[in-house]
Amino acid sequence: MVETTGTKAFICGYPIGHSRSPMIHRHWLKMYGISGTYDPFEIAPDDAADFFSTLRARGLAGGNVTIPHKEAAFAAAERHDEAAEIIGAVNTLWFEEGRLVGGNTDAIGFAANLDERAPGWTEQGAAIVLGAGGAARAVIQALKERGFRDIRITNRTEARAVELADRFGDGVSGHPAAATAELLSDAGLLVNTTSLGMAGKQGADELPADPDRLPRHAIVTDIVYVPLETPLLAAAKARGLKTVDGLGMLLHQAVPGFERWFGRRPEVTRDLREMIIADMATKAVSGNP
Ligand code: ATR
Repeated sequence: MVETTGTKAFICGYPIGHSRSPMIHRHWLKMYGISGTYDPFEIAPDDAADFFSTLRARGLAGGNVTIPHKEAAFAAAERHDEAAEIIGAVNTLWFEEGRLVGGNTDAIGFAANLDERAPGWTEQGAAIVLGAGGAARAVIQALKERGFRDIRITNRTEARAVELADRFGDGVSGHPAAATAELLSDAGLLVNTTSLGMAGKQGADELPADPDRLPRHAIVTDIVYVPLETPLLAAAKARGLKTVDGLGMLLHQAVPGFERWFGRRPEVTRDLREMIIADMATKAVSGNP
């Protein structure tokens, strides 16, 4: 009789040592009694294309992709889901009928986190997105999909904000960072996608925007989750605004991949969240999935 070893999944990135994804997926494997594996692979940028072309030979059923390989994974995939197509980057890979498919679950993760922690968040009117990088793309995709009709992107480099706004079209506008204060006054949702406030990065103790400018009903969320309470979230809380940290986005973006590889839709529980928070308190910091 042939011995089966269970489905093998991975996360690849560079570096990958501080990734919390193995902890999340291994928690679910154990919780549901599934005999699969989920292992980290540190893949140097020059080796990414080769890694993606040898997944099957390595016995891998699929996996997650993080910085800096999301564009390489997009190029390697033979087909893409709609989100990956729109965002132009892949964070989840799986096989369908022998073909490598690339998806992007960051927008799903972002929306699911707000659904869980700030019900009614889609009824907030105008949204401001700080930053115009890859993370902003996923956020804007989620906002458009969930019905936001006035999405204002502000960025240190104005041209990137305008370019992103043009890419998404109707209802999305691009502005310089200097315009943020004025644009906040009638916004109901503020999303930080810049690295300002992230531990270990330049500008770790800086505010990417002043939440005092927001109306009282506004919700403030940060996709940075190291630290869990960024200076922006602390300032928003001090003003009495509803805040949502970025850890839930990390947890929720992991759900669709696990379901594809292991055949069971996992639940984002309080236990899982507490486990990651406890780990963050003891280990070196990193904001990458
Ligand atoms: P990601 O894919 O994670 O979004 P990115 O593409 O490097 O990463 O984007 C980082 C975002 O943070 C950008 O909007 C960047 O602004 P620029 O487009 O002007 O580079 C923003 N950012 C990073 N450091 C910043 C800083 N010190 N001040 C203001 N914005 C900053």
